[in-house]
Amino acid sequence: MIDEATTRARLAPDDLPELLVHLGFHDDDAVEAVGFADRLRRSRSDVAAVARMASLLTEGVGRLRNRDAVPDPWADLPDGREDLAILALLASVPEVRAEHARRQIPDEISWGSLADLGQQISVNRRTHGRFGLDTYGWMRTAWSGGLMWLGRLQFVPKPTAEGWMLDTHIPASGPLTPESVEESFTAASLFFARHFPDTPASAFLCTSWLLDPTITQLLPPASNLAQFQRRWSLAASGYQSDESVLYFAFNVRSDPEDPIDVRTLTPRTSLQRAVAEHLTGGGHWYAWSGTAPLPDATAARVTS
Ligand SMILES: CC(C)(COP(=O)(O)OP(=O)(O)OC[C@H]1O[C@@H](n2cnc3c(N)ncnc32)[C@H](O)[C@@H]1OP(=O)(O)O)[C@@H](O)C(=O)NCCC(=O)NCCS
Repeated sequence: MIDEATTRARLAPDDLPELLVHLGFHDDDAVEAVGFADRLRRSRSDVAAVARMASLLTEGVGRLRNRDAVPDPWADLPDGREDLAILALLASVPEVRAEHARRQIPDEISWGSLADLGQQISVNRRTHGRFGLDTYGWMRTAWSGGLMWLGRLQFVPKPTAEGWMLDTHIPASGPLTPESVEESFTAASLFFARHFPDTPASAFLCTSWLLDPTITQLLPPASNLAQFQRRWSLAASGYQSDESVLYFAFNVRSDPEDPIDVRTLTPRTSLQRAVAEHLTGGGHWYAWSGTAPLPDATAARVTS
């Protein structure tokens, strides 16, 4: 339970800038976050709302199983108040850090993983041209204490019908070279075996627009994207997700009820050109799920 006094103390101007550096905030976003925290302190009702959301967030910390049963901290988030969600995430950092410490996760990896918040906020600025966090729903996963940013990729243990798997996420942080993926996979399999022995994973799992086999028809076989797609054994079918490709390849939000006219976008890269042509030609994009094996040594250890 995070009460109002604790919320105020945790968002106090003295310590906040240092926390924001740890969390990977870019300078412009850090300045705005400090401004919002300052304004929050003058509104009793906003402090109460942030305290409530931060408390609900902590209920999800350390719970990797039955995530559906974890209360939704954003259920009462007023429209247009993503600032409150950001402040609740900031106010609940100590609980997530304590969970990392319980698992003896090295400090650098703990902070590096929580720096997903700064990353998401910078992507928000790229998408909407302003400070905010339209991916606040996703941040619940990051704040579970199970999301680990290891090299190029992020992973979180996920229970499936086939047992635990390492759900794989790809932040927008530079090229996705095959070598960087390989290194991350190796690091993850060893890291989770050591720090998450209670969630013994048997494979990597990924659900993404990046797994749509259409990528391999549109881009050269040697491109990073095509090579990444080919790593995965796909499920039987994907689900239509034109919005995903528009968001991740063009940084625009398209509403399925009121979709963006793709012809108004200006493609600058070969992927953007190919995607625009594909969608304007009546094609769709699909998010697929796939699995990939753990590196041999770890798989043997988990199954033995
Ligand atoms: C995954 C990602 C790092 C791959 O980038 P990459 O390693 O540069 O990919 P490739 O080298 O195969 O790129 C081939 C071409 O597609 C372009 N491209 C790749 N990803 C792109 C993206 N997200 N937006 C626009 N263009 C992109 C490249 O610029 C290159 O174009 P060029 O030939 O004109 O130079 C990148 O797509 C990205 O940052 N995506 C956002 C995060 C994401 O999608 N996560 C998954 C969420 S489910």
